[in-house]
Amino acid sequence: MGDDPASRVYVNNKKKACADLGIYSEEYALPAETTEEELLDLIKTLNKKNDISGVLVQLPLPKHINEKTVLDTIDPKKDVDAFHPVNVGKIMVGDFDFVPCTPAGVMELIKESGIDVAGKDCVVVGRSNIVGKPQAMLLLHKNGTVTICHSKTADLAEKTRKADILVAAVGIPNFIKGDMIKPGAVVIDVGINRVAEKKLVGDVDFEEAEKVAGAITPVPGGVGPMTIAMLMRNTLKAAELNNTKGEK
Ligand code: GUN
Repeated sequence: MGDDPASRVYVNNKKKACADLGIYSEEYALPAETTEEELLDLIKTLNKKNDISGVLVQLPLPKHINEKTVLDTIDPKKDVDAFHPVNVGKIMVGDFDFVPCTPAGVMELIKESGIDVAGKDCVVVGRSNIVGKPQAMLLLHKNGTVTICHSKTADLAEKTRKADILVAAVGIPNFIKGDMIKPGAVVIDVGINRVAEKKLVGDVDFEEAEKVAGAITPVPGGVGPMTIAMLMRNTLKAAELNNTKGEK
């Protein structure tokens, strides 16, 4: 809804990934002045449609729309973002169908790099519902010792320097400097910050950090593509759950 430029890019990337994989997709680009009722009606219609496996509302929403009401309206079985409270609760318990796409992408990068989380000191910088909180839970499920840091954390650098695995998800360009990183640490940068017309940087000062880290993800090209891949995985799961897989 509305015309957020970052959302435009993300939605285009999601549509392209669907097309590349042969997943049928529909986009509803609603004008900013659409009412909450109209948006909720659309979600309820898609919830009921047998040829639709997954429903996703791109955030942020315009100010007159209550984000919580919108996310609560998506059928938990079609909630490919895993933002519905039922799915958030399932993640907490450790028995889940859908995993939020960005934290899931981070876990996949860690796994595919042959890094064992068990017993490691993991520090997540950021406590958003989309990334920080679920990220902490996923690391905990893999037996990491997890610390969540945020804007009120005292002596942040002291905490980040203890991290064997450091996940930065604060949304502040180049916020994590080289001297905040333990030598050899795994540094995963979730930030996507636009600092000039065409320039994207992460939350980690890459030039400094790469000299200290044992492994590090770039921006762009690190976590971003993994988020999309995990959305595709959740969509396939949704098709299985809803028995909506197959020819349209
Ligand atoms: N806005 C920023 N990240 C996300 C995401 O993962 N899903 C949705 N729906 N909106 C977002």
